Amino acid sequence: MLRLEGKTALITGGGGGIGAVTAKTYAREGAAVVVVDIDEQAGKSVAAEIKQAGGEAEYFHADLAQPADIEAMIDYARTTYGKLDILHNNAIALAWGRVGELDLEGWRHTIDVGLTAYWYATKVSLPTMMAQGSGVIVNTGSVSALAADYGIAAYNVVKAGVINLTRVTAIEYARRGIRCNAVCPGPIGTPAMLAAENERPAQFGPVKDAIPMGRFGDPQEIANVALFLASDESSFITGAYFVADGGLNAHTHLPGFGNADW
Ligand SMILES: NC(=O)c1ccc[n+]([C@@H]2O[C@H](COP(=O)([O-])OP(=O)(O)OC[C@H]3O[C@@H](n4cnc5c(N)ncnc54)[C@H](O)[C@@H]3O)[C@@H](O)[C@H]2O)c1
Repeated sequence: MLRLEGKTALITGGGGGIGAVTAKTYAREGAAVVVVDIDEQAGKSVAAEIKQAGGEAEYFHADLAQPADIEAMIDYARTTYGKLDILHNNAIALAWGRVGELDLEGWRHTIDVGLTAYWYATKVSLPTMMAQGSGVIVNTGSVSALAADYGIAAYNVVKAGVINLTRVTAIEYARRGIRCNAVCPGPIGTPAMLAAENERPAQFGPVKDAIPMGRFGDPQEIANVALFLASDESSFITGAYFVADGGLNAHTHLPGFGNADW
């Protein structure tokens, strides 16, 4: 028995990096997947790959900064498949800059796509999930939700917000059969990350060194956590976040005491 047999899932940012691998993972485990992305080519190609492998998927074009697009994507899933079992909020837009450098436009767009859209997609999905008496929401958080970084201030704020959105959604709808959890990746070797590493190896070497496992995660290693959270295997888990970061978050980041040279 496949782990998501008969389920309908919608994933935002499903055309890129972690979202694309997660969409394929959900489909491989039996879900019909709506792949939502602003990048039509990328989203269509993920849906086509899923179909080619014998799965069920459709691409839906949406700009998550637009509330009407969010309403339309949820409506599309509902009308195409008759239900919505899994909503995975995953897309981001990232304005670079420290607190004193960000401009209002970059701040607002980062919040719109990375936090407001997560809340609004949740809100718009809830009536369907409540009518079904079941539903699972997975939010992609980050280790950047749990502590601060230099130079991505808006992103840090967005991801911290995603964690408490996850908790509040979980407690408010737990008795309606709806669960909500988050996965918090550390640095992951997505195509974008690997391209950046290739361009600026001097900057990315220390990032890998800071990870106790000494490597980036693979997108599949995040998709595996999302699959667990999306499936009935996590049936008693709600309001939780799962860190998958090669040990990064376990470290105080103080220099070593004694001989740390293993
Ligand atoms: N890659 C990492 O190292 C890492 C680490 C921690 C957390 N994350 C989180 O994982 C998630 C996926 O990250 P990724 O690295 O795979 O990103 P990515 O940039 O590879 O993919 C993001 C996707 O979102 C889409 N998107 C951007 N703006 C959009 C909009 N307005 N409307 C619709 N779609 C839009 C993009 O087209 C892209 O396909 C994000 O929530 C990110 O914060 C990633």
